[in-house]
Amino acid sequence: MTIQAPKTNLFVRNASELCVPDPVGPGVERHAGWGLYIEGGRVRWVGPERDAPQEAHQAPVYDAEQRAVLPALIDSHTHLIYGGDRTEDFARRAGGQTYTEIAAQGGGIQTTVRATRAAAPVDLASRARKALARRAELGIATTEIKSGYGLETGAEIKILEIIAELMREGYDVEATFLGAHTIPVDVERSRYIQVLVEEMLPRVAEAKLARFCDVFVETGAFTIPEARTIFAHARAHGLIPRAHVDQLSAGGGAELSAEVGAASADHLEYVSAAGIKAMATHNVVATLLPGALFYLGDTCPGLGRRLIDGGVEVAVATDANPGSSPTHNLPLMATLAVTHFGLRVEEALRAITLGAAHGLRRTDIGGFSPGQRGRFIVIDDRDARALVASYGEPIVLALVDSSR
Ligand code: NIG
Ligand code: FE
Repeated sequence: MTIQAPKTNLFVRNASELCVPDPVGPGVERHAGWGLYIEGGRVRWVGPERDAPQEAHQAPVYDAEQRAVLPALIDSHTHLIYGGDRTEDFARRAGGQTYTEIAAQGGGIQTTVRATRAAAPVDLASRARKALARRAELGIATTEIKSGYGLETGAEIKILEIIAELMREGYDVEATFLGAHTIPVDVERSRYIQVLVEEMLPRVAEAKLARFCDVFVETGAFTIPEARTIFAHARAHGLIPRAHVDQLSAGGGAELSAEVGAASADHLEYVSAAGIKAMATHNVVATLLPGALFYLGDTCPGLGRRLIDGGVEVAVATDANPGSSPTHNLPLMATLAVTHFGLRVEEALRAITLGAAHGLRRTDIGGFSPGQRGRFIVIDDRDARALVASYGEPIVLALVDSSR
């Protein structure tokens, strides 16, 4: 159940515990008996309920009924807007073909590009709204959405305009331009990159259709020098880099992300030790996408552990897309990050709240620090860790947003 309580004052009390992400460390703290006072839609005070300020006692009460209260969830990596489906790809992989082989034969991303180009904007938008409604049920209040299934100026703009429309409707979505998802089959490689930097990027920036620019750095997608060029143009247009790197092979993408000052480097299954070091030094958030890896039938034990132990801040996201991760279930991704990537439960909780906020360069969401948005979820358990332990079961009872 989503509760909108516009710009209101609210005293959240009687929580079994309040889950507070550590502002700098990798985990969360769980405080029994803590309350939250929201004033005008923003967190005003957090602490032991008995110490609540006088004003809190005058505000309407939200009674958490001895259940755990956590920050609203943030999904910092999705490809939510697309046409068609990829059931055929899934069946082909079940028959032994790999993701890369299917892509090389014109399936994969290109299948979705054909369907997305053909789709009417109203249909894409209504599908996205349904997805966002489902996400709210899962406790997700913020969703980053990438373009990247257009791969021509008009179709890329079409996707980004839908994201802008969703924003105007009040959804908390972040737009990322991913024209550099792959080279479309109908355009020569260098020509496509020229169109991307000389035509798409200026139009996207001019119309303020995206805050970020993403590049898929991979054999079969974009090389390091190509990505470097694209990011330089993106920066010149005021877009912040983020990247898909080291997903299917080791390619030095993490190092490049650090070099270009990316907000986040995502996937990272083949990240090198030097890449981890560079990310830690340059404060690049690592966004782990265990759903994609698991859905493609693979695993990467200890990836999250290596990153956190190497001093890198970690986010976990769904990568929601029809090909490699057709899911919206962010809590389940947190579960997989624990079982497959070696995160502690507290680290997984931070990774889908404050870690994700930092990966999106947002300071207004992700925790309960004074000044942050008054948004929270209540789960059907006394222990906040149950969100991660619940293995995809619907455990979120309410998403409350008093900030709009
Ligand atoms: O993040 N790696 C590239 N892009 C997506 C997959 C997109 C697709 O297969 O449609 C990803 O996994
Ligand atoms: Fe992705």
